[in-house]
Amino acid sequence: MERMKTGFLLGAAKEAAARLHQEFGVTVAFVTLGPKGCLYSANGVCGIVDNPPAATVDTTGAGDIFGGSALSRLLMLNKPLNTLTDVELRNAATFACWAASLSTERAGGISSVPPLDVVLSHMKG
Ligand SMILES: Nc1ncnc2c1ncn2[C@@H]1O[C@H](COP(=O)(O)OP(=O)(O)O)[C@@H](O)[C@H]1O
Ligand SMILES: [Mg+2]
Repeated sequence: MERMKTGFLLGAAKEAAARLHQEFGVTVAFVTLGPKGCLYSANGVCGIVDNPPAATVDTTGAGDIFGGSALSRLLMLNKPLNTLTDVELRNAATFACWAASLSTERAGGISSVPPLDVVLSHMKG
């Protein structure tokens, strides 16, 4: 059952990304999947990043924190969006999932944004 639900979710996420590319001319699409992480899609590549585990108390702001975090990593690369590689997209998505996931462990929106060094140290594992 869980597998069926996950399969459905991924199918819908892929379809959403395809629509963002085709109908809206979006180059880089991230489709967030709540506690299941996210799908990234751009330049003919796409993949899923599993969410890191979290002791969630409040998801307020998680979507915004994901978006800002992903965008900040893409901007740091300082290269055209249509040249981003699978590894670069996956790294940005992974960073954003960590930042958003960690933010759910604290109450509030802005008050729950994790510091950069905390996100990076979790990513290094
Ligand atoms: N319950 C949760 N536990 C852990 N992480 C979560 C949870 N909900 C959201 N997140 C994190 O926040 C990101 C955005 O959440 P999502 O619910 O998909 O966005 P929105 O709330 O804007 O619809 C997810 O990709 C995930 O990294
Ligand atoms: Mg949510």
